[in-house]
Amino acid sequence: MCGIFGYIGNSNALKIIMNGLRKLEYRGYDSTGVALLVNNKLYIKKSIGNINTLNNKLHYDNHLSILKQANIGLGHTRWATNGKVTVRNAHPQVDYTKSFSIVHNGIIENYNDLKYTLLQKKYSFKSQTDTEVIINLVLEHYNGDLFNSVQQTLSYLRGSYAIGILCKYDTQRILCAKKDSPLIIGIGNGENFLASDVYALLPYTNKMIFLENGDIAELYKNNIKIKKQDGTDKELNICVIQDSVNINLSNKTQYKYFMLKEIYEQPDTIKNTYENLLNNTTQIIMKLNNIQKIYILGCGTAYYAGYVAKFWFEQFTKIPIEVDIASEFYYRSLILNSNTLVILISQSGETADTLAALRFTKTKQCISIAICNTFKSSISCEATYVLYTSCGIEIGVASTKAFTSQLTALFILSLGLGLQTQQITKQQYTQYLDELYQIPDKAKTILQNIEGIKKIAKVFMRKKNVLYLGRYINYPIALEGALKLKEVSYIHAEGCATGEIKHGTIALIDNTIPVLVILTKGKTYKKTLINIEEIQARQSLAVILTNNINTSLIKKIHYVISVPQTIELLSPILNVIPLQLLAYFTATFLKHNVDQPRNLAKSVTVE
Ligand code: M6R
Repeated sequence: MCGIFGYIGNSNALKIIMNGLRKLEYRGYDSTGVALLVNNKLYIKKSIGNINTLNNKLHYDNHLSILKQANIGLGHTRWATNGKVTVRNAHPQVDYTKSFSIVHNGIIENYNDLKYTLLQKKYSFKSQTDTEVIINLVLEHYNGDLFNSVQQTLSYLRGSYAIGILCKYDTQRILCAKKDSPLIIGIGNGENFLASDVYALLPYTNKMIFLENGDIAELYKNNIKIKKQDGTDKELNICVIQDSVNINLSNKTQYKYFMLKEIYEQPDTIKNTYENLLNNTTQIIMKLNNIQKIYILGCGTAYYAGYVAKFWFEQFTKIPIEVDIASEFYYRSLILNSNTLVILISQSGETADTLAALRFTKTKQCISIAICNTFKSSISCEATYVLYTSCGIEIGVASTKAFTSQLTALFILSLGLGLQTQQITKQQYTQYLDELYQIPDKAKTILQNIEGIKKIAKVFMRKKNVLYLGRYINYPIALEGALKLKEVSYIHAEGCATGEIKHGTIALIDNTIPVLVILTKGKTYKKTLINIEEIQARQSLAVILTNNINTSLIKKIHYVISVPQTIELLSPILNVIPLQLLAYFTATFLKHNVDQPRNLAKSVTVE
């Protein structure tokens, strides 16, 4: 996924665009670029690396004083899909005559065919991108009317796009269009903006238009026009965003990295999600009838949230349930119908695999509930119902606060459905909610005791491999702990079901591999103790994460991470927090930029 920012007005477009791109950097940061229109001339400036790299480069640019005069322009921060990370492949791209410029987020599936046709007509290409094909098609169809040429170009494209286009013959407007990638217009006073998300626009305006699939918009300084792809006018559907809190949430304040800030926000984000969702969930549940099967789908961390929730739905609702990786779901031969409930989990609401799974289940008339963190995202708009987690924007690429809020939402949903299907009593419902209500304060105590975790991080940072073990409802937490460590520290980590290691993985264990075992009070406790003995017999360095340590155990193990007591069903929400911190400290001790881990992007909008 990539980030797009556009501006037209009376101010310094370069400055505004660079500020906007900083907010969008979480969407991709392998290369950056801007296109500015000054005196009927297009200036394109690009660089490999993040916004700071481009900023430094611009400082020494011969054209800097001209660039600062621009009142119209576009910017882009890239996560490479078509074509390697090079300056040529960075956006903005231009047509071969350098008259038109484009920024693009998405993937054009048929770009090779289109490129071939253009090559026959003697068009030439400098990049390996699909985007360069779009802008040359705009040139191909241009007969003096930019709207018309963009409209015609779009009719040839298969795939997804959010695009912004500038033309040196048409300097008073930005053309933009959207299909399956987010694009939002910000309405200012004598100026208008364009961005991939709400948060990049909020410093300038809270009046926004969420473009819909097929929309083509013209942004002028004092006017906005939106048309459907057939050219007919659309009314402007203006939303006023009432969320000033989120502006603060998108600043790092005293934290070095967003990841740490977001880990520390969890007592608040869990509480907010709890408070905001209780009523909404009940209203949705009242509309659900005769659900015979539930599927929970997501990717990465969101999938692990679903994996934890599977145990809750099983226990509270007794409705058969499965959890699956969204990108795997499509290939299965399943009976799906209007009695099937599909729960899609996605922080960004734009993950292509999850969106594709949602669309597939819609063709089978399934009912869907999206658990999303991003207002008006594709998944939240396309699902039958949506429950928003109240995290504020999550900028760190490693998902932390979104995960615990997803768990909170799923716990409330599973309880509500259990009550509606009369598998739990009102009294049980209330008792479980009371337990959940106490989680934020317990999370705070974990966050106040980090010295022990730092010591373990100092050990992990020197290791090549780490094993995370968990059983039953904490098995997904072992998977999530391992994912967190590998994505920010680049140390290989594997999550494994504690009882399963003796069936193979134990072959790896020796004194070079630390093994972190989740030992939570409850039905898995005794068996896990036995598994710990087995691990110790192989000389491994054992780290125990537990809410019930006994003295005989302390003697035998190397490190203990203590977490507060809660019921076993809710232990995953607490247990994951030290694992997030452990990943964070290990990676920062290794001097990695945890907010922008290599090769990753915040949301993956390609299948
Ligand atoms: O935006 P989504 O929740 O749909 O994203 C799903 C995954 O791509 C995401 O959780 C990813 O695994 C994170 N980088 C994990 O930290």
